[in-house]
Amino acid sequence: MKCKRCRRAEAAVDLPSHHAAFCPDCFFVFFRRQVREGIRRYRLLAPGDRVLVCVSGGKDSLVLWDVLMEAGYKTEGLYIDLGIEGYSARSREKVAAFAAARGKTPIVVELAKEGIPIPEAARCIRMQECSICGTVKRYFFNKVAAEGGFSVVATGHNLDDEGARLLGNLLHWQRDHLARQHPFLPEAGTGLVRKVKPLWRITEMETAAYGFLKGIDYVTEECPMSLDATSLVYKEALSLIEDKMPGTRIVFYQGFLDASNPLRQATVEPMADDGEETGFGKGSAGGVPGACSSCGASTFAQVCSFCRLKERVREQRERRREKT
Ligand code: AMP
Ligand code: FES
Ligand code: ZN
Repeated sequence: MKCKRCRRAEAAVDLPSHHAAFCPDCFFVFFRRQVREGIRRYRLLAPGDRVLVCVSGGKDSLVLWDVLMEAGYKTEGLYIDLGIEGYSARSREKVAAFAAARGKTPIVVELAKEGIPIPEAARCIRMQECSICGTVKRYFFNKVAAEGGFSVVATGHNLDDEGARLLGNLLHWQRDHLARQHPFLPEAGTGLVRKVKPLWRITEMETAAYGFLKGIDYVTEECPMSLDATSLVYKEALSLIEDKMPGTRIVFYQGFLDASNPLRQATVEPMADDGEETGFGKGSAGGVPGACSSCGASTFAQVCSFCRLKERVREQRERRREKT
């Protein structure tokens, strides 16, 4: 089959949802256009932004960093080493190699050094790894961005991720989560930096194809702690529908984002992605948060959620030590 765009080269990527098939060069053009359109539609980024790209070592976030750099944005990468044996070292290596090949050094936060490596923390306080991981990651996304003078944090969430999350939120009528699900979450004066998801129009298969064709080396294994059954079920369900009716996934998610959708609030609440979030810096928006008495981050509680978590882990660790 010939490429639908140049009509000369052999097509390498088949995209039924766009009724198209492209050769590698034309696919790159298509892909960059999709990202540009995703950014333009909700003004996710401005040319003067300093973008903190959060990179896990997986395909989506490395591809995101690659396209943003190529598009001329000022970017730095942030890698959070979760302290998961084997997996963390392997993903960190991929991030470091990717960055080095582009003359960059990623910012690295080591949770072991911060006193809260995820597997040990989960064991200590008998909580699911993923919920701890979410709180800790959000905390450092904000902290590193605020302290490093970044105007925006970008993550590699793609259309499959966002579609699955939307389906889950709808099936359970999680109204407050629905109100906050958006590729653009504005900054709040409390040091909560703007959060954007520039790949929201791009499918997982498309980022995989882009990464492969560009020779980006990424970790293919999933985090061993995050084999979160529910989000995989929603992804599978949407993939089944997409196979039978190509284009359904983007219609589903784009329709949800449409301002005329009564499910959407007129403005996106700036407070949080999923739950309580901790901000850094001066000023306040909405209510009047105070400073965490432990780390200084702004929070509506006396101690922020991250510091409370860390304290619980520390207490349990001490208790276990005393027993042995
Ligand atoms: P996940 O929640 O694992 O699907 O990841 C969603 C996005 O969060 C990724 O595309 C990255 O942008 C970011 N992310 C996930 N894990 C890390 C990490 N260890 N360090 C930095 N960013 C991460
Ligand atoms: Fe969070 Fe694995 S525990 S990504
Ligand atoms: Zn704190």
